[in-house]
Amino acid sequence: MTGKKSLRHISDFYGKRFLIRVDFNVPLDKDGQITNDRRIRAALPTIQYVLDKGGKAIVMSHLGRPKGDPKADAIYRMDNVARRLSELLDRPVRKTDQVVGPAVVAAVNVLKPGEVLVLENLRFHPGEEKNDPEAAAQLALFGDVYVNDAFGTCHRKHMSMYALPQAMTGKPKVAGFLLEKELQVLGQLLENPSRPVVALLGGAKVSDKIDFIRALLPRVDRLLIGGAMTYTFMKSLGQNVGNSRCENDKLELARSLWQEAHGKIVLPKDHLVADKGDASAATRVVEGAIPEGWFGVDIGPQTIALYSSELRRAATVVWNGPVGWFEIEPFSQGTRQLAQTLAEITSQGAVTIVGGGETAEAVEALGLDQRMTHVSTGGGAFLDYIANHGQLPALEVLDNL
Ligand code: 3PG
Ligand code: MG
Repeated sequence: MTGKKSLRHISDFYGKRFLIRVDFNVPLDKDGQITNDRRIRAALPTIQYVLDKGGKAIVMSHLGRPKGDPKADAIYRMDNVARRLSELLDRPVRKTDQVVGPAVVAAVNVLKPGEVLVLENLRFHPGEEKNDPEAAAQLALFGDVYVNDAFGTCHRKHMSMYALPQAMTGKPKVAGFLLEKELQVLGQLLENPSRPVVALLGGAKVSDKIDFIRALLPRVDRLLIGGAMTYTFMKSLGQNVGNSRCENDKLELARSLWQEAHGKIVLPKDHLVADKGDASAATRVVEGAIPEGWFGVDIGPQTIALYSSELRRAATVVWNGPVGWFEIEPFSQGTRQLAQTLAEITSQGAVTIVGGGETAEAVEALGLDQRMTHVSTGGGAFLDYIANHGQLPALEVLDNL
């Protein structure tokens, strides 16, 4: 189904060196402490499997967007990530302070079967984002097998994702278990989903999601809109949106998407509106247009009921983007209640797929992540995978089945 070979196709593990590219780009607080380790936990089955079979795991990832200033970039060192990985694996994890070079060669050479080495942040190396073949050639020497378990980074044509597997000529280049699962679930959504298919789409900007919406439209039976992109659609259809957040330069685009959708797009019937952007705001529920002086912060109760009943009719649901200003408690009802509906329909047999960093965090904050069929580890990669009909740069260079 995924079209790609995975770790399952490897038979020779003992003493072999596995270069495992993961996406440990976890959220950090201002001191560099990890605030959510979901992406680390998601890659454990792959790493554990390699270690259990006596492989040597050389684990590599980027972290954040370092600027090339060592002082400011210090919070992006991989030390805390390596420590958390060690706790989760319950075994020692070594770490190098470099990506390539003599210290890394030495560290790789002393690795024993069942041991783990974490390389320094790949983006500290100037070759990473340039997809540099020379850096790739150096890294390629460290591995007997290349494993991509970094679904969240597969939309980046970067050295560790692209040039490196290319440089490992004649050696296996396979998907890890996380990538394999993502491709199975999302591939099924694109190719052969159980119908009806309903998409629930929120978030601030239409402009971020044009290609995503265009790719979804022919595949879904309904596309329910929430979040601030609601107001761009409303305005494009000539409705008043008061002081709501709105992309005024995207009205033409919103109107053309609306036309292309042939009635599949559903907009909220009512809105929770507020007079300011914090929990102490005055709020009210309005139907249709939004009065001056007020701005939309969540879908209203009638819309929650309408969208819940649409979701209950679905056999497959794909959800991206909170439907309200979820971080502020009084504005979080829509997102909460629809997440609850998704949890319920999942237990009744519907396939529910949640994608995009913010949406995954919302579902997790509500304690409902385990109750969805699949919560993708991809943010941009999830959107791009759908938008590009199942193609991402880093997938091109993995071994085909
Ligand atoms: C992500 O979180 O989107 C991936 O880890 C890729 O990171 P990037 O957006 O900084 O390239
Ligand atoms: Mg990103």
